[in-house]
Amino acid sequence: MTERAAPDALSWSPAGPPTLEGLRAFALAVARDLDPGSRYVKELLAVLDASSSVEDYLRRLADAEHADAFRRDGSGPSRGERGFSWVDARTWADMDPFEQTLSNLLTGETRMMWGGEGAPDWERLPDALAAAAPGPGPARVLSVPCSTGKEPFSLVIGALEAGREVELVGVDRQASYVGRAASGRLVPHQRDWSHAAAARWLRRLDDGATAVSDEVLRRCRFEQGDVLTGALPAGPFDLVSCRNLLGYFRGESLARAVRNVAARVRPGGLLLVDPFVTEAADMALARETLAGLGLARRWSDRSYFDRPA
Ligand SMILES: C[S@@+](CC[C@H](N)C(=O)[O-])C[C@H]1O[C@@H](n2cnc3c(N)ncnc32)[C@H](O)[C@@H]1O
Repeated sequence: MTERAAPDALSWSPAGPPTLEGLRAFALAVARDLDPGSRYVKELLAVLDASSSVEDYLRRLADAEHADAFRRDGSGPSRGERGFSWVDARTWADMDPFEQTLSNLLTGETRMMWGGEGAPDWERLPDALAAAAPGPGPARVLSVPCSTGKEPFSLVIGALEAGREVELVGVDRQASYVGRAASGRLVPHQRDWSHAAAARWLRRLDDGATAVSDEVLRRCRFEQGDVLTGALPAGPFDLVSCRNLLGYFRGESLARAVRNVAARVRPGGLLLVDPFVTEAADMALARETLAGLGLARRWSDRSYFDRPA
């Protein structure tokens, strides 16, 4: 596969107002990095094809009734609501049509780590930090992609629960998600409060929403970046968490993203991925790339990789 520049949302500046053709071209450019069999791409292109205008397209993407149904059971085909269903109306309103399109292809799906498939890795975080950041100073952590903040907040909460001081940088390609994460206000999910630790670090706002405490938020900063282009903070970091993104990519795009995130781990530090990357047949290239860089599984039942010192 030939090396080529990734479509770069950081510099994506369409000339003039969006058109259906421009949005389609953007979707196809993003899709070149993704699984060619992705149903997310097929479903979004079908929505574009069915739309009579940009206004009609945007109305379909933000269809509240479909999004509510999709939030209850996301297993069915999306009619364009896949992106909207993982944020709330306030965050959605901050997104331009290109971001809203991107969010249907690479969603902002995220949970507090105790409330999803990240729970076993979150439970092992104290051991991971002890290994990756043995020094007396704060553990330096990169969370990319950070989406609307739940992964970085979970990592900070896990560190504080373990009595570790921590400094975290959260990075995402989507400016609206970065902004939402920096607000500390969670996009609601039924499992946000499902762990005893939650009550120590989350708080209820006057309007009933949930936010992280200042203790958590002040240990985080957020910025835009891209694992494909390598526009990421230089670090190096004791722990780099890259969960629920690599699985979207295939071929050289996947290998490049793996190289870019692994390069931010300090020698002797740890990279955290997700069970799909550690197990799925489709992710063999990711594992080969990690092995080629000298990174090896630290625990056979967890998704941490050691970068040799
Ligand atoms: C499924 S979410 C995962 C978020 C978080 N890691 C978690 O597991 O909770 C995928 C995120 O990847 C972001 N993203 C998509 N392409 C990206 C890229 N090239 N570089 C960085 N972030 C990207 C999306 O904006 C979205 O927030």
